[in-house]
Amino acid sequence: MESSEAIRPEKMGPLVMKETWNTPGSFVSWERSENIYIVRGERGGIVFVFLNDEMFRMKVFRNKVPDLTTTAAVLAESCVPHLFPVEENDGQLTFTTSAIRLIIEKTSLLLRVENMDGKVIMQQNLTSWSPRGASHAEYDMQPDSHFYGLGEKASFLDKRGERYTNWNTDVFAPHLPEIEALYESIPLLIHMHGALSYGLFLDNTGRSDFDMRSHGVAFTIGCSTGAYDIYFINGPEMKDVVKRYTSLTGRIALPPKWAIGYHQSRYSYMNQQEVLQLARTFREKNIPCDVIYLDIHYMDEYRVFTFDPVHFPEPDKMIAELRGLGVRIIPIVDPGVKKDPNYEVYKQGVLEKHFCRRLEGDIFFGEVWPGISAFPDFSDVRTAEWWGDLHKYYTDLGIQGIWNDMNEPAVFNESKTMDLDVMHFNNGRPVTHEEYHNLYGMMMSKATYEGLAEHMGGERPFVLTRAGYAGIQRYAAVWTGDNRSFWEHMAMAMPMVLNMGLSGLAFSGPDIGGFAHHTSAQLLVRWTQMGVFFPYCRNHSSIGTLRQEPWSFGEEVEGILREFIGLRYRWMPHLYNLFHEAEMTGLPVIRPLILEYPRDPHVTNLCDQFLLGENVLIAPVYRPDTEHRSVYLPEGLWIDYWDGEVHEGGRHILAAAPLRIMPMYVKAGTFVAEGPLKQYALEDTAESVIFHLYGAEARSGFFAAFTLYEDDGHSFSYKKGHYSEISVHAAGEEGGLRLGWTYTVREYAPRRDMLRFALCYPNFAAASVDGLPEVSLEQLEEGRTGWARNGKNGALIIQVNDAARGGELRIQAVRAEEELNRKE
Ligand code: GLC
Repeated sequence: MESSEAIRPEKMGPLVMKETWNTPGSFVSWERSENIYIVRGERGGIVFVFLNDEMFRMKVFRNKVPDLTTTAAVLAESCVPHLFPVEENDGQLTFTTSAIRLIIEKTSLLLRVENMDGKVIMQQNLTSWSPRGASHAEYDMQPDSHFYGLGEKASFLDKRGERYTNWNTDVFAPHLPEIEALYESIPLLIHMHGALSYGLFLDNTGRSDFDMRSHGVAFTIGCSTGAYDIYFINGPEMKDVVKRYTSLTGRIALPPKWAIGYHQSRYSYMNQQEVLQLARTFREKNIPCDVIYLDIHYMDEYRVFTFDPVHFPEPDKMIAELRGLGVRIIPIVDPGVKKDPNYEVYKQGVLEKHFCRRLEGDIFFGEVWPGISAFPDFSDVRTAEWWGDLHKYYTDLGIQGIWNDMNEPAVFNESKTMDLDVMHFNNGRPVTHEEYHNLYGMMMSKATYEGLAEHMGGERPFVLTRAGYAGIQRYAAVWTGDNRSFWEHMAMAMPMVLNMGLSGLAFSGPDIGGFAHHTSAQLLVRWTQMGVFFPYCRNHSSIGTLRQEPWSFGEEVEGILREFIGLRYRWMPHLYNLFHEAEMTGLPVIRPLILEYPRDPHVTNLCDQFLLGENVLIAPVYRPDTEHRSVYLPEGLWIDYWDGEVHEGGRHILAAAPLRIMPMYVKAGTFVAEGPLKQYALEDTAESVIFHLYGAEARSGFFAAFTLYEDDGHSFSYKKGHYSEISVHAAGEEGGLRLGWTYTVREYAPRRDMLRFALCYPNFAAASVDGLPEVSLEQLEEGRTGWARNGKNGALIIQVNDAARGGELRIQAVRAEEELNRKE
């Protein structure tokens, strides 16, 4: 006999009724409560919180006014509500700050943000929600709209015409433009139209969608669960948006210098002899290297917080020998804890209730590398502290960096992650995994960072993560996951990392050489040439692929890689300075040209070249067997780093790029700070510095300035004021140039007696330099003060004592022709 089972609804075909989405309807009333503005419509409304003159938060509500707790992305101190004047008339409600006007149309609760000239910055047309809890809003798009940000996404720089989902996902399949979700979710969209830019940050840790493709004159932002909680971030420049977004979600913590050196990895270096041999080879071959990674094979059957007793029997000895060579190790730590009643971490986790559970109390188990595993619930402070403390196991061994992987979390099942009904305890405010998912990886890295810091006696920790959410930059650097050794993936790394930088992730980079598939000699060369200018610089490759350590393809390749890795180390003062800038302002270390040249229509989607900071243009070669490439130089004069040729900007040039050259240009009138070549960043050798000034001119109106930040490079003492800042400037005048330097702060004393300036490719030759004698280059090397000319590139080199707080020199110029005559 049949039971009622026969008429189960799913057997009766699909539901025919379409969901009706609701809108708040028209305006009913508004009120203010403790600097929070509540605007009510017929069926719901919006709560507005003004954070300052340039940013406000709006949270949509259906029937009851929502609470205003934020996610862990947002810094509580940046989220304090402020009072601003409101005006009401028959048709509108207007909030006014010193920078913007927010106008709410009463008929439809349409929102418009205008600047003080009445130009529309943003218009939000329709806010709606589904009966099942999804929400969605539509925003105006202009014919000249361009979109940036969104963190780690495939495809080109400008996201116009694209649609993306934010749902942290382990994607081993090739990262193609059609893939909408990768490992990281940064729901920040920067919209630029005309001379106006603004950002919209949707603080929702569940699944969200940004669609700049499907609606013609509008784009949409939606989420499938949780609150529609969005921040408007004003420009008008994109730089303002990035600075403000990072004031809201935090900025990178200045990394230890060793973390911005060259890193070598492989899945996996299989035993301790192999690791030691690798480190020795770097030193024998004089290829600088700071870090070797230990991938999953270092563990005892993939149990985190263990070493394999057979292949890594003496981790302490191995680490001590590596330290002697100046190499640190970074072990991988995944969230999956092996289910094994004899394994202490698992036992503790179960007994102390640290693992994610369902509402009914049963632990969620999923399969990852160690087999069946449980997953810590990092949402809860108690568990985060437990996890952080477990890292004492590593810090006791002298380990200062941890690699968090598989923390989307990745699970080997159909959904690729934890079941959506698993709960996160969240300090007494339980939420489902469906709502929490994108935060999981970040909370793991936060626990890791804080645990390491706790046990490192004032040294700066380093955490690398694969998954993350807005704000992850405060705790970890991000690498872009399992790319492949494809030329296309090398090219894609540029827009990907550039947009990550615009989304607050100033410290990121791809696996250099490519992770999966087999690299080739040329690909490794080209990728390394580019990679040494990325903020995060690690060569990593997968099990079963061709080896890709720098010496894997013979001497010619090895020589080129040595040169370029060495260049990263020589440029360390400059690079470190940019990291300091990122910590202070949120601006990224490498930048798309559109960030520095927002009015140049040629650069809106330019992403096969990029800027290191403001003034160094890097144009990688990203196709095989290619010895030339077109380079776009924006306005100004640009000096070829390799041969000094001066190019007028605002046009394309054809650059010659034989294998040993990657085209690079320095903007005339700017400085690059160079240090000595070290084999590892904290090698205990002199911290000499050369300020290279490019394209100095002996004419009034020429001016260049630069500030270099320095500190010990490894401890937190800079936070107590132990750093130095030296400002250098050059002012041209008729017949010469004044060169000055001043320590505005000198609470850290770098190991050096001299300061050096190199005037590269000036349009004049020096006749004399104030009271300084003309000496030979050798005498400069011996530590004499004076000036000399570098025969190789004609640079004028000046060396002064670094004893005083500052100084100024006048360089008398002779024109280049006179100089020629003099010689003849
Ligand atoms: C994941 C990581 C990769 C790592 C591998 C083994 O695929 O993305 O970098 O090498 O796991 O741990």
